[in-house]
Amino acid sequence: MLLRAIDLHKSYRTDDAVLNVLQGVDLTVDAGETVALTGESGSGKSTLLHILGALDTPDSGAVTLDGLDVTGTNDRGRADIRCRLTGMVFQQYNLVPSLNVMDNLRLQARLAGRDDPGWNNALIARLGLTGQERKYPEQLSGGQQQRVAIGRALAPRPRLLLADEPTGNLDAETSDAVMSLMLALVDEVGAAFLMVTHSSRMAAMLGRRLQLSAGRIA
Ligand SMILES: Nc1ncnc2c1ncn2[C@@H]1O[C@H](COP(=O)(O)OP(=O)(O)O)[C@@H](O)[C@H]1O
Ligand SMILES: [Mg+2]
Repeated sequence: MLLRAIDLHKSYRTDDAVLNVLQGVDLTVDAGETVALTGESGSGKSTLLHILGALDTPDSGAVTLDGLDVTGTNDRGRADIRCRLTGMVFQQYNLVPSLNVMDNLRLQARLAGRDDPGWNNALIARLGLTGQERKYPEQLSGGQQQRVAIGRALAPRPRLLLADEPTGNLDAETSDAVMSLMLALVDEVGAAFLMVTHSSRMAAMLGRRLQLSAGRIA
């Protein structure tokens, strides 16, 4: 087992209300497994993904990743886990505007001390970005930007790729191409893949489906 979440709780407090978003989430993901996380808008999918990816902390409960205690460590420990073990792809791409394609793709790998020019170039080719290396994000289509973001997440060869509605801003044809690439590349890297999606068509492309409902995995 690669990832394990036990009894996660998370609430948001606003001035006049408490919103109990996660109310006892348990889940496991095996090494190399591909899993879709579905659920209605506002059900807490992004909150859960951010906790699993060490970007946020739960109010209670535990996450372990590759035997490491994600929830029991401090900010620095979580940063180290993000750097070495996880890759994250967002709906909005989140590329660095001032960096070109190749430098965006290398960014996480450099931070992880795993910058491998041969693998970077292979990724560029696999992602259909050959010849675009010196372009800047604003010069690319949405689909191309998302492919750079996928390359950035996978360049350090993480154990777990997390993606939050990665095709949410793309048309159907581009979505299919991006999905196929992600599935082929996580298989090549040997990473597990946990993807939040609205689309039952996208969810059907993954090995297992989980649904978040009323704060728990249904
Ligand atoms: N930082 C926050 N402060 C207050 N409420 C939040 C915060 N982040 C998310 N929420 C609320 O928590 C609920 C779950 O949000 P989210 O995890 O983004 O759901 P999903 O990704 O399934 O749409 C929503 O009602 C959202 O408005
Ligand atoms: Mg969301």
